[in-house]
Amino acid sequence: MKMGSLFTPLLLPLFCLCLTLISPTHSTDCSSLKLSGGKKQYSNCTHLPTLNATLHFTYNATNSSLSIAFSAPPAKSGGWIAWAVNPTATGMAGSQALLAFKNNGSMVVKTYNISSYSSIVEGKLSFDVWDLEAEAGSDGKMVLYGSLKVEESAEKLNQVWQVGPGIADGHPMKHEFDKANLGSVGELQLVEKLTPSSPSPSPQIANANSGYGLRVTQLNVGFWILGLIYFIVFM
Ligand SMILES: *[C@@H]1O[C@H](CO)[C@@H](O)[C@H](O)[C@H]1NC(C)=O
Ligand SMILES: *[C@@H]1O[C@H](CO)[C@@H](O)[C@H](O)[C@H]1NC(C)=O
Ligand SMILES: *[C@@H]1O[C@H](CO)[C@@H](O)[C@H](O)[C@H]1NC(C)=O
Ligand SMILES: *[C@@H]1O[C@H](CO)[C@@H](O)[C@H](O)[C@H]1NC(C)=O
Ligand SMILES: *[C@@H]1O[C@H](CO)[C@@H](O)[C@H](O)[C@H]1NC(C)=O
Ligand SMILES: *[C@@H]1O[C@H](CO)[C@@H](O)[C@H](O)[C@H]1NC(C)=O
Repeated sequence: MKMGSLFTPLLLPLFCLCLTLISPTHSTDCSSLKLSGGKKQYSNCTHLPTLNATLHFTYNATNSSLSIAFSAPPAKSGGWIAWAVNPTATGMAGSQALLAFKNNGSMVVKTYNISSYSSIVEGKLSFDVWDLEAEAGSDGKMVLYGSLKVEESAEKLNQVWQVGPGIADGHPMKHEFDKANLGSVGELQLVEKLTPSSPSPSPQIANANSGYGLRVTQLNVGFWILGLIYFIVFM
């Protein structure tokens, strides 16, 4: 079958990632980070360090729910964007993905249980998700909206994001394996880290600088060891 050759996972290069990633995401000033659709409000937002992606989010610790708007340009027009939480590890294996693309003229969001590199199954995730929607902006970006339940009293989670070039027979085609595609993992801090030693009088300074500092950090950590793991291949 033709699909088989398109999506055969075993042909893909394998790699494994350094597990020493420093938290690459911090809240930044959301005013510089417009969502193309902009139809919802979020209390926090962050530039993700690769793929021109951003994440707006609101975390409600009272009921452990997280609302997100993930924005990125797909690798090609007609491609897809994805954002995932990995409840059990830091890479692709185990991640629970939300994936948006244009299907037959309208934007859809599908969920994929990526339990391992060879098992990418459209279907239920290991946590509740709701209010899934997506839209394509005029700027070439897509925005994926959704809400999800996070573990009670979670302060951060492992996130993974990705963009791909197209859809074949309703299935997302595999993404590129450039450095940016392979570096698109990190922690999402849901609750600001407390810094007990210095009760800073102006905490917003740290926020204002973080967007720039992040890229520099990312240069240092964005190295990948050849190895066992390959990244998102949706089949
Ligand atoms: C990110 O956006 C910049 C400016 O719009 C562009 O030059 C660059 O190629 C984009 N990078 C990716 C990975 O899409
Ligand atoms: C968080 O969720 C609780 C329970 O649903 C709700 O009462 C509260 O208003 C929410 N907080 C915010 C900031 O939306
Ligand atoms: C938690 O509260 C928020 C804000 O009130 C609400 O939008 C969300 O649906 C609630 N989540 C759950 C799981 O009830
Ligand atoms: C695409 O849309 C057309 C018109 O709405 C519909 O007839 C067709 O069944 C749709 N195809 C798929 C694959 O959803
Ligand atoms: C995801 O897939 C794995 C392996 O097939 C399975 O054990 C797990 O129950 C699945 N998760 C959900 C939420 O269906
Ligand atoms: C999110 O924004 C709120 C309000 O601006 C702020 O109090 C909180 O510390 C931010 N959360 C994170 C993780 O930066």
